[in-house]
Amino acid sequence: MLSREDNERITRVGPGTPGGNLFRRYWMPACLTSELGQPDDPPVRVRLLGEDLIAFRDSKGRPALLDAYCPHRRAPMFYGRNEDCGLRCVYHGWKFDLNGDCVDMPSEPADTPLKAKVKIRSFPVVDCGGIIWTYMGPRDTMPPPPDHEWTRAPATHRHVTKTFEDCNYLQALEGGLDTAHSSFAHNNAIHDPKELRNADKSPSIEIERTDYGYWYASTRKIGPDRKWIKYYNYIMPTMQARGGITAISGGHNDVPKIDGHIWVPIDDETCHVYNWALGYDENTPLTPEYMEEFSAFTGRGKDDHIPGTFKLIRNKANDYLIDRKLQKEKTYTGITGLNTQDYALQEGMGQIVDRSQEFLGTSDRAIVTMRRLMLEAIDEVAQGRMPRGSDPTTYRNVRAHDEIIPADADWRGALAGEIVAKF
Ligand code: FES
Ligand SMILES: [Fe+2]
Repeated sequence: MLSREDNERITRVGPGTPGGNLFRRYWMPACLTSELGQPDDPPVRVRLLGEDLIAFRDSKGRPALLDAYCPHRRAPMFYGRNEDCGLRCVYHGWKFDLNGDCVDMPSEPADTPLKAKVKIRSFPVVDCGGIIWTYMGPRDTMPPPPDHEWTRAPATHRHVTKTFEDCNYLQALEGGLDTAHSSFAHNNAIHDPKELRNADKSPSIEIERTDYGYWYASTRKIGPDRKWIKYYNYIMPTMQARGGITAISGGHNDVPKIDGHIWVPIDDETCHVYNWALGYDENTPLTPEYMEEFSAFTGRGKDDHIPGTFKLIRNKANDYLIDRKLQKEKTYTGITGLNTQDYALQEGMGQIVDRSQEFLGTSDRAIVTMRRLMLEAIDEVAQGRMPRGSDPTTYRNVRAHDEIIPADADWRGALAGEIVAKF
């Protein structure tokens, strides 16, 4: 449970809010690299942390991120012309480069001093791991750019997609960190004794705070002599990494990999989920065919989207095409698609959950710890300190892993060689 006041602090992300100030101390995904296309391609709308922005790739191929509105009379830069290393507002022709400098002001006299004075807001960007990241906070506190194992890996070994989710980021992030729900929401065969999700429905959870956030490990008993360890990383502010194993989900985890999400606030009431995956080692590339099969299994394959958008066809407006017969006979949810199941539950809570009304149990420890860390970090920023997880050296070598080991084995020893980066 959270007080109403803390719930406000942690869920609101706009400029000048305590939570918004925290997010503005990290590099955040603005869009996929692929969205920007080729040099001088049309600009792309970005809405991030409650602010409207415009991204484009200039003539030299450099990514840029500017305010969505022209500083002259606030015309939309989305209709702008991407030409010769800058974006030209088509209302009166003022043109801005990627630094936000006005490089042409044809509607004013040639010697106008205004041109040197006027700037459009511009944001630093880096292109890594298939994502254009930006930093929206004060320049003097800008940390080094992201350095995750999956952003360092060759493009052949990683895969990144993006999905729109119609709720506040926090309830979506909480769903990701919540290991216990997979026995229910994601159980695709509730009567099948071979389905691992039926083996132990109340996993024990160990958590340890780190300089980047925390790691946590869940243990499920699998019969009398084995146990299933899931070792995860939570990297602040909103990234999670998980291991993948062969034994669950039919053939869909037959390529060993690490995967996870970053939940990125669009504004207070919606978010984008960046879904990333990394092949286990240099011998494990992730082919586009395999990743499409995996994405389809999770409910966000190519055919699952409203064409030309990041929105799913199964959505709140059509009750996620719930199948009540399937629900009676085979699954708890009756909803097809692993992440569709998540979205139905998280979006169905309403845009922003009122956490003063909940009752938390022992299986919610990872969620409680994340909330504490976020609220502490909000205070740290308010006191002028760098928040946990903003320094990439704290997380660059971590890795998540899943393994089934003998019931009497010490999981720390058994997993020691697996929970460090291989790229
Ligand atoms: S509003 Fe953009 S140039 Fe006038
Ligand atoms: Fe889930």
